[in-house]
Order: sequence, then C-alpha cells, then structure tokens
Amino acid sequence: MKPATRDTATPGCATRDTATPGCATRDTATPGCVSRGTGRSACPAPGTGRSACATTTTLGCALLIALILMAGSSTSCRQGHAEVKPDPLARAYDSEPDWNDSTHVLPLNYRQAQGKRVFYQYCVWCHADSTPAGPSNRSNLNPNPPLASDGSTLNALSDDFMRNVITMGGAAAGKSASMPPWGKTLNQDDIDAVIAFYRAIAQPPYQAPARPGPQYSVR
Ligand code: HEC
Repeated sequence: MKPATRDTATPGCATRDTATPGCATRDTATPGCVSRGTGRSACPAPGTGRSACATTTTLGCALLIALILMAGSSTSCRQGHAEVKPDPLARAYDSEPDWNDSTHVLPLNYRQAQGKRVFYQYCVWCHADSTPAGPSNRSNLNPNPPLASDGSTLNALSDDFMRNVITMGGAAAGKSASMPPWGKTLNQDDIDAVIAFYRAIAQPPYQAPARPGPQYSVR
C-alpha cells in the first residue's frame, strides 16, 4: 500500500499536494476538488487516482496537517510583541518634574534630555536625594554634593567651570575629591548635555549671562 504522491489518472486531481505527501488532493483546476486531504472525496472524476488517495493513511495526513498548523501558530507567537514594562524614568525623557514641586513639569529640549540620561546614569547617586532611580548616597558625603537643581549654588558657576569640574573631578578644581572626574567616561557632548540639564532644572531658574566671560576663564 504505497501512498500515491502523484495522481496522474484522475483528470483535474493530478497536481501534487506538497502539504500532504501521498495525497493527490490539491486540485486547483477542477472546481469542487479542494485542497488538503478532505477535498479528495470531492474529486469529480472517478478513477484510480481517487482510490490512491483513499489508500493513503488518514492518520499520516492528519498528523501532517496538525504539524503545519502548529508551525503556523508558533510563528505567529514569535511575531507577537512582549509587553514592555514602562520605566518611570525612561517614560519622560523629554521632561522632568520640578524637584521642588512635582506638580510642575519642566519641558526638556533634545540636549537637555540627553543630559537627563547622563544624569540618571552617573550623577543621580550623589546629586539627588532618593528618586525612582533608587536611594541616594548624598547624605553620606561631606561636603554634601549640591542637588543638581540647586540654582542658588550652581547658577553662579560658569559653563566652563562646570565643564572643568565634571571633566577633571572635584580635586582638580579645588573642590572635594569625592566628586569624581568624568573625562574618561563621558565625552564632551555628554558633559555639555548634562550641564544643559542642570541649567534646565535649576531653582531658582538659571539665566545665562548676558555677556559670557572669556572663553578660557575657569570661573
Ligand atoms: C560619588 C559622588 C558623586 C558623583 C557620582 C557625582 N558627583 Fe558631582 N560632586 C560630588 C561632590 C561631593 C561635590 C562637591 C564638591 C565640593 O563642594 O567640594 C560635587 C560637585 C559637583 C559640581 C560642582 C559644584 C560646585 O559647587 O562647584 C558639579 C558641577 C558636579 N558635581 C557635577 C556632577 C555631574 C555632572 C556628575 C555626573 C556626571 C556628578 N557630579 C557626579 C560628588 C559626586
């Protein structure tokens, strides 16, 4: 009882059914002779082809169809998107709640938003009190690092001084050595971005000097 893979005897049922080996069932030419196993009984032309179909083990056909269906469903599973848990910080990189008044949200431009990323990766542990990012080490440090939003301390510093202290560390700028140097970790763009973020969240608000100081001054 050899399964007939090619049904040449039945006109209209002569096409090979690649889905169901042994079943000459796929018939696109004859209406009523439909595909996939079940259609073979509907083949209008009597003949050996039909009986060849009928001799094929139905179990084999059914197993194959089940396999195809399983393969199909697993593919659609892979295409489905796993639900991503929203990160409260990543959710709003284009804004930052006012640290003194959480009902007030400060919009951030592109550079400030880049700075926010840098800040919440490297600086938050010392320059913020506890945040959704985690607990802070600020209270353990002496001197206490200024809060990033502390405009009363930071507004007085020029961008150049900020750049120097961030790049070379507190010790190099005559400040506490517990402020690490970031020049080997961050590039100049990151550093300028994080300064822009500090400026954006400053309270009282930061006002850029009307006449910037000489380019190479440190303060
Ligand atoms: C390990 C703790 C720590 C981390 C992390 C840290 N800082 Fe600091 N930072 C300090 C301390 C302490 C000071 C205060 C130094 C002083 O006042 O003598 C300071 C001071 C500063 C100052 C100067 C303030 C002033 O009054 O002159 C700036 C600007 C600054 N940090 C920016 C940053 C930035 C930007 C990052 C992240 C890239 C960062 N810090 C990460 C501890 C830290």
